[in-house]
Amino acid sequence: MVSLKQAAIATAFCLSFANAEVAFHIYHESEFAVMACTALVGKTALYFSKTDKIKYCNVHNQPALGTYAHCIEQIPYKDARKNFLDSCAPFNLTEEQYLAAYNNATKYLTNTTADPTFNKKKIYNKPAILSPKKIVGAWKSEKGRWTNYNYAHYFGMVLMAYWYLVMFVAGLCNLTYFIAPNAVNSLTGGVVNAFRKYITLPATFNKSHAHHKQIFHYLLFLIPSRLETILVSGWIIMAIIFSAVKYTHDTPNVIWPQGASTEVGRKIADRTGLIVGWIVPTLVLFAGRNNFMQWLSGWSYSRFVLIHKWMSRIAFLLSITHGVGMTFNGKGLGKYETRNSKPYVRWGYVAIVCMAIMTVQSLMVFRRSNYELFLACHIILAVFFIAGGWIHTRNDGYHQWYICATAVWAFDRAVRLARLAFFGLRTAEVRLVANETLKVTVTRPAYWKPFPGCHAFIHFVRPTCFWQSHPFTIVDSVAETNTITFYIKVKGGVTHGLYQYLSKQPDNKANIKVTIEGPYGQRQAIQKYENAVFLAGGNGIPGLYYEATDIAKRSEKTNVKFYWVIRHYRSIEWFYTELCKFKNTNITPIIYVTQPHVGLTSPFISDNLNSSDEEEEEQEKKSDVAEESGEYIAALKKNLSFIEFREGRPDFYQIVAEEIKEANGPIGFASCAHGSMVDDARRSVADHLGDSKYRVELFEQIQAW
Ligand SMILES: Cc1cc2nc3c(=O)[nH]c(=O)nc-3n(C[C@H](O)[C@H](O)[C@H](O)COP(=O)(O)OP(=O)(O)OC[C@H]3O[C@@H](n4cnc5c(N)ncnc54)[C@H](O)[C@@H]3O)c2cc1C
Ligand SMILES: *[C@@H]1O[C@H](CO)[C@@H](O)[C@H](O)[C@H]1NC(C)=O
Ligand SMILES: *[C@@H]1O[C@H](CO)[C@@H](O)[C@H](O)[C@H]1NC(C)=O
Repeated sequence: MVSLKQAAIATAFCLSFANAEVAFHIYHESEFAVMACTALVGKTALYFSKTDKIKYCNVHNQPALGTYAHCIEQIPYKDARKNFLDSCAPFNLTEEQYLAAYNNATKYLTNTTADPTFNKKKIYNKPAILSPKKIVGAWKSEKGRWTNYNYAHYFGMVLMAYWYLVMFVAGLCNLTYFIAPNAVNSLTGGVVNAFRKYITLPATFNKSHAHHKQIFHYLLFLIPSRLETILVSGWIIMAIIFSAVKYTHDTPNVIWPQGASTEVGRKIADRTGLIVGWIVPTLVLFAGRNNFMQWLSGWSYSRFVLIHKWMSRIAFLLSITHGVGMTFNGKGLGKYETRNSKPYVRWGYVAIVCMAIMTVQSLMVFRRSNYELFLACHIILAVFFIAGGWIHTRNDGYHQWYICATAVWAFDRAVRLARLAFFGLRTAEVRLVANETLKVTVTRPAYWKPFPGCHAFIHFVRPTCFWQSHPFTIVDSVAETNTITFYIKVKGGVTHGLYQYLSKQPDNKANIKVTIEGPYGQRQAIQKYENAVFLAGGNGIPGLYYEATDIAKRSEKTNVKFYWVIRHYRSIEWFYTELCKFKNTNITPIIYVTQPHVGLTSPFISDNLNSSDEEEEEQEKKSDVAEESGEYIAALKKNLSFIEFREGRPDFYQIVAEEIKEANGPIGFASCAHGSMVDDARRSVADHLGDSKYRVELFEQIQAW
């Protein structure tokens, strides 16, 4: 419901703005005769002063009307005369008057080039001869120019509609999971499995998806899934074809007599420029957190970011093409320099330069190395891109798309502010546990309801970082009501700042003011599967935990297996209370400890924080504490006797394969762990679909962008 309401508001918002001075217009053949003759007669001789309003419709200006009528009568279009007379309706020109002028002019037609009294700057008083070739040329020139605009609009609309259509289909599929799970579960067998094995499930090149790829040391990539690649490639191919086809070269050209490069350069520029307009609002929408299409399609934010990136890259290439085309046109017309000195052209350059910088600065290397810097630059550049596009197109009324993009953006920001206000400013208890995880506990308003698998963006209101908002998964507290908890892994930015602050506090604990924007995300349909297997790694546990316990509460029948992979036993500390809730449920928890002997007594130092001094210290202490740690582990295992502990690194490929074989009903996997583990699980699901006669589904919950 919320989604529909928001969609409606956003659309209304957009339309009310865009209606202001819409230039959108589809040209019809009936418009070209008047355009062609006006251009051709205008270029041949001067028949009235600039202030004359009646122009060629003036029955008292026989030379003008006569010449015009001779043009119109030779236009290769059956309704040309009617179109002209319609255009003269305000001046009451009748068909008789028109024909009389035509016949009268026949007697006086003069060849202007051969007439010594002819002066192009002075009003001419004889009807002029127009060559039939030029008349047909003029007709074709106008038709060629303006149908190109039509193609630009049609193609732009198709490029935009493509995503909404794909999302609509995705939305229907997503809905079916919830309202008719049995129908989905019956979709098994050869054809369905083959389609899923080769198209929807695997990563593009079979291997990496969640885990980034690296080439040339600095270039990092996230490889999309195969389905995503197919959808995005389809769109890109369409965009390229749409910018390359259906151009005409019309001679003799009344608009661009200078030659083909002037004419075709302009046509390509018009086409690409307009198409960019059509895709800008959607690409802005897809980058927002409150994109209503997320709720409709059930797609994750990271998939929208992927589409956003490729739409932006194509928009950039099209803008470059627009610029090159206009350069050819400007040079041909001799207007290159004068145009470049005009503000609207300069703002066009601003927009293109911003796009160029954005495509580079948004590469993963820069996002990874300093996300906040990336974000700040991205926002500023985007503002200048939109402003540039707006000013550039304003004179022709084509700024409607930039107005729309601004509205979409403003809408997202407004909803974000509203969400923050809705949650309010609250005091959170932040605790550093096991020296690796920040546990944030904060009471929530009763009307602010989290759901399994959701996340929210936290602002820690401290002078050094209050403007930053970082996404973390929510768990509705198992200990208190109306309280939510986050489990934050210490990394290099804000989280590291908090780590340093907390490690100096007594009990490693502090009260910090926070405000929270959320909850975001979609419920996954895994609850509808008879067998649910959760594959969590490290700090990927919160979302999966919330979902698993939710399923256990809803139905006793569901078989729930819960795998959690951690580095060392200490990590259990920050999730201990929650793990205890697994007791006496139908959940089978299995914990893998990959480095069982690390960091038991001395504080664990996470990778990115290690300093060599501390590491050495740790080495020294190790031998003394061996015995002590044995007791620690034994106590832990005793308290958590309902959990199976395994030491070593799990092979998710193998685990998934076995779970599929053993399942005696539809089985769903949810994964949120280290990228390579998640990828193993995905590959295994794709490879072993055929091993079960039931439906096998994967719900990958890790998001990266
Ligand atoms: C939907 C979602 C849920 C998440 N849930 C959890 C969770 O429950 N527990 C947990 O420990 N981590 C979670 N993360 C990861 C968490 O958001 C990042 O680790 C955190 O933002 C890093 O903050 P930092 O300033 O210390 O990062 P840095 O050390 O500066 O960067 C570390 C990495 O985090 C990425 N990153 C930094 N800021 C952001 C941001 N604002 N948005 C997106 N990515 C960012 C960077 O690209 C970089 O790759 C989640 C991420 C997403 C997208
Ligand atoms: C016929 O055309 C000539 C030249 O354009 C013009 O001077 C004259 O007035 C016209 N005659 C009539 C009857 O309109
Ligand atoms: C007009 O006169 C010029 C030169 O006298 C000639 O080349 C041209 O073909 C004539 N145009 C028409 C339409 O007869």
